[in-house]
Amino acid sequence: MSVNDENDVQTLLKRVKELEETISQQAVQLNEQKKKIESSKPISVDVHCKNMTRTVMVARSDKLEDIQGSIKSAFNLTTMPTLYLGEKQITEEYWASAPLFTSNVPKLIKCEIFSPWDVAGSEESGIDYDKLVTQFGLKHIDHELIERFERLTGMPAHPWLRRGFFYCHRGFDLILDHLEQGNIIYLYTGRGPSSTSLHLGHMIQFMFAKYLQDAFKCVLVIQMSNDEKFIFKKELSIEDVEHMTFENTKDVMACGFDPSRTFIFSDLDYIGAMYRPVLRLLKNTTAHTESKIYGFDGSSPAGFYTWPSIQAAPSFSCSFPHLFGPPYTDTTTGAAIGPCKPWNRKLKRKEEPKKEEEKEEKKAIETKEAAPKEEGGKVQKQKSASSSSSKGKGKGKSNESQWAVQCLIPCAIDQDPYFRMSLDLASSLGFPAPCTLYSRFVPDLSGGATKMSASAQLGASASNSDSASSSSTPSGKAAAAQGTPKTIFMSDTPKSIARAVNSGFSIGADTKKDQAENGAKIKDLKRDAAFSYLEIFDLETPDEELAELGRKYLAGAEGDPDESHLVMSGTIKQRLIKVLCDLAAKHQERRKAITDEQVRAMMRLRPLDIKRLIEEKAKEAQMEKEKECEKKDEAEKETEKKE
Ligand code: TYM
Repeated sequence: MSVNDENDVQTLLKRVKELEETISQQAVQLNEQKKKIESSKPISVDVHCKNMTRTVMVARSDKLEDIQGSIKSAFNLTTMPTLYLGEKQITEEYWASAPLFTSNVPKLIKCEIFSPWDVAGSEESGIDYDKLVTQFGLKHIDHELIERFERLTGMPAHPWLRRGFFYCHRGFDLILDHLEQGNIIYLYTGRGPSSTSLHLGHMIQFMFAKYLQDAFKCVLVIQMSNDEKFIFKKELSIEDVEHMTFENTKDVMACGFDPSRTFIFSDLDYIGAMYRPVLRLLKNTTAHTESKIYGFDGSSPAGFYTWPSIQAAPSFSCSFPHLFGPPYTDTTTGAAIGPCKPWNRKLKRKEEPKKEEEKEEKKAIETKEAAPKEEGGKVQKQKSASSSSSKGKGKGKSNESQWAVQCLIPCAIDQDPYFRMSLDLASSLGFPAPCTLYSRFVPDLSGGATKMSASAQLGASASNSDSASSSSTPSGKAAAAQGTPKTIFMSDTPKSIARAVNSGFSIGADTKKDQAENGAKIKDLKRDAAFSYLEIFDLETPDEELAELGRKYLAGAEGDPDESHLVMSGTIKQRLIKVLCDLAAKHQERRKAITDEQVRAMMRLRPLDIKRLIEEKAKEAQMEKEKECEKKDEAEKETEKKE
């Protein structure tokens, strides 16, 4: 081999080496690119939420909120859910330390969510109501409080109080203090019209509000939040929610509210009159706070952020100037709107000479009203409206606290976020924070992990052509064709009520023999939809009798050979069907008798008969005093006799 040949070989070998290096570098680069592409590909995970398991495509991301966002849209949720892997909550820190999607793929993610728009507990234990009490700084309603309520109102406790369906409160004891002192209060509750008929869960709230109104003989205001439903429900138009407002008002009125004490208002019509307090609330809250309270995120429509102030405002009496003041002048007509005198916080004040009145006012300013206030997780004493009035100066607050009337809000616990917000904002308005009384939920028929909802999904099986519920919501209409409703509407026919109840989740054994020998399959009455409903809706049967029925259902025949004594799941369901059909039939009859003109009259801006209420209350207080005097006299006579 010549020298030249050898040089050529060397050059070639060098070239080959260079090429090898380039190829291996490119291979590394390609591998990295491939990995990058792989890791950015969305992956499918199974997610369990609202009693359903779905496969959801989620982007692999280091950010927890990206995963929450994918799940939110897959389940059509309004707010971000809390995620769990088994029992472990996926927190930001946990996610940062172990971003699961970059390495191993989790088998099943479970969701819990609790907001005014979405409620879903864990599948196994349902909604943890006790945890909510601690989390929201509430108190359980105990026997002592119920007895005090009975003593003061002279009314027997409603079965829903006795059976613990209305189970917790914030400041209900303060309401009883007011009652004891002869002060007036008002009740506030509401409905967001998203279906043409109310369902059983909504109905409870209005039946209970009627009971409280009778007990307290007070004014009740009912907000029809059609603006809320328009903003939060993509599929609803303004015309839809206006129509639903009218229809729902008829349902509400069928509960028998006294028009001289009840004001039902549609936000779309009434907003101007309460715009002043709404503005004050809007000025004193931030988007950041609302995102934290309600689980909103950057993709939420701006209307989501304005809505909470509109639900919070009626918990301050200044939202009803025509009822409670302060008065204002209507710019278009020049008319004075509102009662002509500052509100009589003490009923007797009206008759007293002016000097006394001033003294009273001064005293009231110094008085501290006891309502718990949540701040940084701690429950603190709530300052009175008047004493807090100096605080929010320069923040758009008013000096209107002299018109303040204490508010009590009965509703289900999902509405608490609004009233926690009211609590925090009360001082900036110079008005007392509202007191609240909360119920549990009527569960959906699938067994307790979520609430009955107007927009509930429908299950499989039977056709639903005769069900009035099928036409109660737009989504219901579409879904009705496919299955059995999980929700019972007040407009439902007996046939559709029976179908819904019969399709509900049951803990009973599959055969008569099994039920007789071993009793119920699952030993937890709370999981049985029909039995849970009986406890809520069977108001006629004594508590002990219902408890005994439940015990027998769990236990089986216990050696009793008489088959007619055996409690099967069918026994419970038949009993419930009768109770619910009666309830719906009576409701439908009362509703039919309500005319459009009566609805309009109930919603008209008008003064209510507050004067009569005050007179009645004063009379009652006088009678109470006389009774006490008589008792004292008798006791004195007795001791004199003994001596
Ligand atoms: P809405 O229309 O969803 O519900 C109306 C009332 O019914 C309660 N509720 C239930 N109670 C028991 N079991 C259930 N399954 C169930 N589902 C709903 C709700 O807690 C509510 O009390 N934003 C409100 C309307 C509103 C309001 C208020 C409610 C406006 N102002 C003041 C209470 C208090 C809403 O959309 O509710």
